[in-house]
Amino acid sequence: MIRPLLTKDVSQVVSLYENYMFDSELKKIGEKFLYLLFVAINDSNYSINYVYEENSKVVGFISAALNTKKLFEELLRKSKLAFLRSLFFSLLKRPYLLFFMLEFGCYLQKAQHKRIKAELLFIVIDPQYRKSGRAKGLINTVVTDLKKMSHNTVRVLVLKKNWAANHLLRNLGFCLVNEFKFFNKQNLLYEYVFNAKAPQP
Ligand SMILES: CC(C)(COP(=O)(O)OP(=O)(O)OC[C@H]1O[C@@H](n2cnc3c(N)ncnc32)[C@H](O)[C@@H]1OP(=O)(O)O)[C@@H](O)C(=O)NCCC(=O)NCCS
Repeated sequence: MIRPLLTKDVSQVVSLYENYMFDSELKKIGEKFLYLLFVAINDSNYSINYVYEENSKVVGFISAALNTKKLFEELLRKSKLAFLRSLFFSLLKRPYLLFFMLEFGCYLQKAQHKRIKAELLFIVIDPQYRKSGRAKGLINTVVTDLKKMSHNTVRVLVLKKNWAANHLLRNLGFCLVNEFKFFNKQNLLYEYVFNAKAPQP
């Protein structure tokens, strides 16, 4: 069953992210940071978040941004102290993460396109529940919401070596629009254009 992500689900979402997110730099910042991040993302009006629930267990989730730059600006504004504290302690342990954070800031500036604003940020399915259309279902649910909000494009950045995610996106009709290095790894930027549904009178 697909349903909206609730604050009570965040611990399960963080553990899915920590255990199964493909080669993520964010994971290195630490569990506490991830918890704050997902609570803040879920609280924002600039995001759409769903989970896939099976027998009362969260087995997958998706987070999307209506406007990635605005979403992250809001996260910093609202949860500044908590974020900075957890970032500070992770930087003490892993100073090189500062470069990742600076590059992430540059990505937000660069990826900000006048026309395209919505972006799929994270999607993870527990390995035991994969290859049964759950990721497809979560993405389609987000796209349906975006249509209702009169968006007509969504983008997503994926590591080139993430074979499963690239297959999933191409299978759904996402088109490759750019390829670039981000934190020393080759990334692919996809876009999916759909027809926005006119809002009901
Ligand atoms: C990528 C991921 C979300 C796919 O989840 P999933 O539930 O298995 O995907 P679905 O079952 O909805 O697959 C839909 C389509 O994607 C493709 N696909 C998914 N996993 C695939 C794999 N391992 N190999 C090849 N194709 C795959 C298939 O074309 C499939 O369509 P089909 O069933 O008509 O053949 C999952 O592998 C995952 O959680 N990976 C780790 C996290 C991650 O990398 N997230 C993406 C970062 S952007």
